[in-house]
Amino acid sequence: MLEHIQPKRICATHSFLPTTRYLSLMDHPFLLFLLIATLIASAGGREFTGDFLRLPSEEGSRFFQAPRGDEEAGTRWAILIAGSNGYWNYRHQADVCHAYQLLRKGGLKEENIVVFMYDDIAFNEENPRPGVIINSPNGDNVYKGVPKDYTGENVTVNNFFAALLGNKSALTGGSGKVVDSGPNDHIFIYYSDHGGPGMLGMPTNPYLYAFDLIEVLKRKHASGTYKSLVFYLEACESGSIFEGLLPEGLNIYATTASNAEESSWGTYCPGEFPSPPSEYETCLGDLYSVAWMEDSDMHNLRAETLHQQYELVKQRTINGNAVYGSHVMQYGDIGLSKNNLFLYLGSNPANDNFTFVDANSLRPPSKAVNQRDADLIHFWDKFRKAPQGSPRKAEAEKQILEVMSHRMHVDSSVKLIGKLLFGIEKGAEMLSSVRPAGQPLVDDWSCLKTLVRTFEMHCGFLSQYGMKHMRSFANFCNAGIKNEQMAEASAQACTTIPSNSWSSLHRGFSA
Ligand SMILES: *[C@@H]1O[C@H](CO)[C@@H](O)[C@H](O)[C@H]1NC(C)=O
Ligand SMILES: *[C@@H]1O[C@H](CO)[C@@H](O)[C@H](O)[C@H]1NC(C)=O
Ligand SMILES: *[C@@H]1O[C@H](CO)[C@@H](O)[C@H](O)[C@H]1NC(C)=O
Repeated sequence: MLEHIQPKRICATHSFLPTTRYLSLMDHPFLLFLLIATLIASAGGREFTGDFLRLPSEEGSRFFQAPRGDEEAGTRWAILIAGSNGYWNYRHQADVCHAYQLLRKGGLKEENIVVFMYDDIAFNEENPRPGVIINSPNGDNVYKGVPKDYTGENVTVNNFFAALLGNKSALTGGSGKVVDSGPNDHIFIYYSDHGGPGMLGMPTNPYLYAFDLIEVLKRKHASGTYKSLVFYLEACESGSIFEGLLPEGLNIYATTASNAEESSWGTYCPGEFPSPPSEYETCLGDLYSVAWMEDSDMHNLRAETLHQQYELVKQRTINGNAVYGSHVMQYGDIGLSKNNLFLYLGSNPANDNFTFVDANSLRPPSKAVNQRDADLIHFWDKFRKAPQGSPRKAEAEKQILEVMSHRMHVDSSVKLIGKLLFGIEKGAEMLSSVRPAGQPLVDDWSCLKTLVRTFEMHCGFLSQYGMKHMRSFANFCNAGIKNEQMAEASAQACTTIPSNSWSSLHRGFSA
């Protein structure tokens, strides 16, 4: 029998743990474990909406066998972005480093790959192998040779947009490398991070809003500087970045790790199978990300289409329809998926004789962890392993309590604001209602940014966890809530901003 690997849920979960405040976790590690276990189990209770996009010709895959030849014209460009920092987010930078190695083996040149990553993992004091990053339990070092184009405070939305548009004068910091592409070129963008409805995280503020991304993609298209563009996106609720927003006709094909209203998942997490080497107290990868990369590592990509990979990644990421999985989606010009992966990723000559066939590609289902709970897994594993009475144990305890109290604070404030604005009964519905598939999250994106800012002014920074509430703010805008109403409700709900690193506004607002 196959072991089921449990990917880690990295997105939205409930976190009402009112008693933790009054207890010392040192004295009650088992209680803490129960709390975390409950938290993660409750995450599985979401419902699948099943809004797959189905192609008329999914049956006849011969349609998708792209012809060989005529693929050499043009240059391949790539932008790789890890949108997080912190050791508990190890996996996003590991994903991006892995993607870099894959593209180099495929034949892309360093000068054509722009890398955004905070770069606080390889030499992090928590890293058991200094200078090394791995993306799977037995994986090679993927950190070696990765260029430091945009690191630290230079990993910004502004620099990402400037790099994509090829506009050097708009850059602030970094190596100056941009996508200086021409009309025959192909561009591949891969982004791995936390997200929320309509929003992607960044290690700096502000975060990335879907509307702004789509505007930049439209500008890139209008500049006539690419032939086609492929966007692979791993984040919670990542479907919401393109759903109802990315039009056809831009020659852009996007796939996302999840639909617009569900978590994406981390994998190779401590305590799961397959698990990282025992000295690692963090998840090494993300489910959708390792699915497309491990497939690409193995095959002759001249003979594998985007569509074939989409089907395979979809199957691996739904994870046997287990609760530990998500629905991979595709958006934009779906016809482009008949192209071979070679057009974007190149192909490793060592794989020339390994042609894609369904049977040699799918891995057994794995356990996974919700993106939004992977930080807890790290702090818990650190707490569990640290010697009794050690400063490390005390530090881990503090970290767990801080992350928990931040979650409770954000959840309860948003809930209360909903009630203040719409009344006790209608409040809950307003917070969670989802528009029909195919519609964008919100009509007025500047309203959304304004309300988020107002919330943060009174209640503190949303941070990676708080992004899960973006749909509630969007629903407020869709219901015509004005900024003054939001300000009044926020002021009532939050009398002070909690003093912890998650709530702190020292780096500015997410909007
Ligand atoms: C490049 O960015 C600068 C600064 O933001 C802006 O003024 C300029 O119009 C941009 N150039 C193009 C071609 O978009
Ligand atoms: C940001 O970019 C500037 C200019 O290239 C560089 O001097 C600085 O070291 C970079 N900061 C980080 C944290 O990498
Ligand atoms: C692929 O197979 C051919 C024929 O057997 C052989 O000559 C070639 O060396 C192989 N290529 C690789 C990369 O293994």
